[in-house]
Amino acid sequence: MKMSRLFSHSVLSLLLLLMSEVLVAAEHPGYINAPERRTTGIGKFYMGREIAFVMGHQAADWLNRPGRIAEERPDEVVENMGLEPDHVVADIGAGSGYFSFRIAKLVPQGKVLAVDIQPEMLALIEEQKARDKVTNVEGVLGKVDDPNLPPNSIDAAIMVDAYHEFDHPFEMINGIYNALRPGGRIFLLEYRGEDPNVPIRPLHKMTEEQVVREMSVFGLDWTDTLDFLPWQHMMIFTKLE
Ligand SMILES: C[S@@+](CC[C@H](N)C(=O)[O-])C[C@H]1O[C@@H](n2cnc3c(N)ncnc32)[C@H](O)[C@@H]1O
Repeated sequence: MKMSRLFSHSVLSLLLLLMSEVLVAAEHPGYINAPERRTTGIGKFYMGREIAFVMGHQAADWLNRPGRIAEERPDEVVENMGLEPDHVVADIGAGSGYFSFRIAKLVPQGKVLAVDIQPEMLALIEEQKARDKVTNVEGVLGKVDDPNLPPNSIDAAIMVDAYHEFDHPFEMINGIYNALRPGGRIFLLEYRGEDPNVPIRPLHKMTEEQVVREMSVFGLDWTDTLDFLPWQHMMIFTKLE
């Protein structure tokens, strides 16, 4: 008798757990593959936006160009993230680590997980770690549909000029969402799609409206958009508690 009650209680708990997983799961809006593609696009559409092709590691020098300091003010970006010294931050689509190493200085007791799908980019990060004797940046090889981060393990995630080229944006944000602790924040920086004066190809920019639309399928609160940058939106989303 006791055993069967125990059993039915466990089955009920399992069912409730499964139901709550189903209830929190975001609904996939779906992808559309078009026969035509625009220049620098991959012909795959997500919520009305054509996804851009991935920037190859051969162009890594462009990420480190000196003019980028004035164009993107990277030090001010990381100062505006409101990080604590022990925070764990994932830099998704980290490239050569342009932002990872700046963030690492702000989290001396924490760490930066520099996620990229190109091993060559992670190799550049390893070179800089050795050169500058940095111990709190860890390279993580992700997949196109998985940032490869453990659940509930990060306080913040940042994507700079990267999200528009994720060819599985839903799966990537889903993975980041699961990796965030409750109250954790996503910082999404993209060139302003609304602004024709930003000298970047159209598929490599995003409007604020489009970003909000794509994030709205997850349990994320659009907390703020900081507009101090010359060319980009710095958008902040918070995982609901
Ligand atoms: C234009 S670079 C930007 C790099 C870096 N965030 C910066 O601002 O210097 C975009 C990076 O995103 C990476 N990437 C593309 N799809 C990805 C994915 N699904 N997961 C992780 N990284 C991805 C690319 O390999 C590339 O290194």
